[in-house]
Amino acid sequence: MGVDTKAKAAVKKPAVHPNTWVFYEGEFARYNDVRLGLMTHALHYGTAVFEGIRAYWNEKKSQLYLLKAAAHYDRMRRSANVMRMELPFSTEELVNFTIELLRRNEYKSDVYVRPLLYTSSEEIGVRLHNLNRSFFIYSVPFGKYVETDGGIKCMVSTWRRVPDQSLPARAKISGSYAQAALAKSEAVEAGYDEAIVLSVDGHVSEGSAENLFMLKDGEFVTPPVTDDILEGVTRQLLIKVIEEELNLPVLQRSIDRTELYTCDELLLCGTGAQISPVIEVDRRPVGNGKVGEFTQELQSIYFGAVRGETPKYKDWTIPVY
Ligand SMILES: Cc1ncc(COP(=O)(O)O)c(C=O)c1O
Repeated sequence: MGVDTKAKAAVKKPAVHPNTWVFYEGEFARYNDVRLGLMTHALHYGTAVFEGIRAYWNEKKSQLYLLKAAAHYDRMRRSANVMRMELPFSTEELVNFTIELLRRNEYKSDVYVRPLLYTSSEEIGVRLHNLNRSFFIYSVPFGKYVETDGGIKCMVSTWRRVPDQSLPARAKISGSYAQAALAKSEAVEAGYDEAIVLSVDGHVSEGSAENLFMLKDGEFVTPPVTDDILEGVTRQLLIKVIEEELNLPVLQRSIDRTELYTCDELLLCGTGAQISPVIEVDRRPVGNGKVGEFTQELQSIYFGAVRGETPKYKDWTIPVY
């Protein structure tokens, strides 16, 4: 029996060109030449850890800048450790494979890089021990993940962030993104752009795939790493920029839900999301309901740095070509 035509029409083609180079099992191969088995453990049980890395194309310099790749692979190693897995290469090797991959694909646009370490055993049985692992990296041209210019409207999700006691949010585990997907779709289908998710104990944790900062009375505040957040690479960069360039303090403390309604500025940040100003939460304007002044300043510093324009932040990026 075939798939009915309606369902067939709804299936989207992959966003990646079939001839794109990927790094698979220690070698470079074409995207379409790699096949995973139907029984692949990670596909059924979410037993994988991954990363999302960006590279930014600078037209003026004819150069592609890979952003904070080593920090992402270091985090991946820590995520793997939580899941009783081991990355098969050093961070330096992984950064070099990534550069080689981007060179082979000859990108002249912004790119997203996705490494995945996954349980590749083709067998039934939920566990972490005595299973095979595999590793790949693919890359794909990539623009905005969420809006960054006019600001976004968020809802506080009815879903709670996965707690450290059951599925550690600080590890980037594939399975935990089912929770993020529940929150994201609930928000988008209710007419919002993005979800803000509370921890099980009711504090603001993060967006569906972004960390969160708010500005209140001249101080930036971001949830601490103990409020079930992913310890974001972008979050770390912004803490430094806010302190050093905006000369404002950054407090890492728990945030109540209603502080989202009473703060002066709010933003979500992440490799995918970049810096996304939040202008409304639960139908209440944030500040004056427009993109905040400090958020705009942060965006301008961030977007300059990631495209290799700022000598001070040269160490954020590696030129690929
Ligand atoms: C759940 C979650 N929180 C936060 C972030 C932001 O992390 P980073 O800045 O390292 O991309 C991401 C993005 O990967 C994420 O998936």
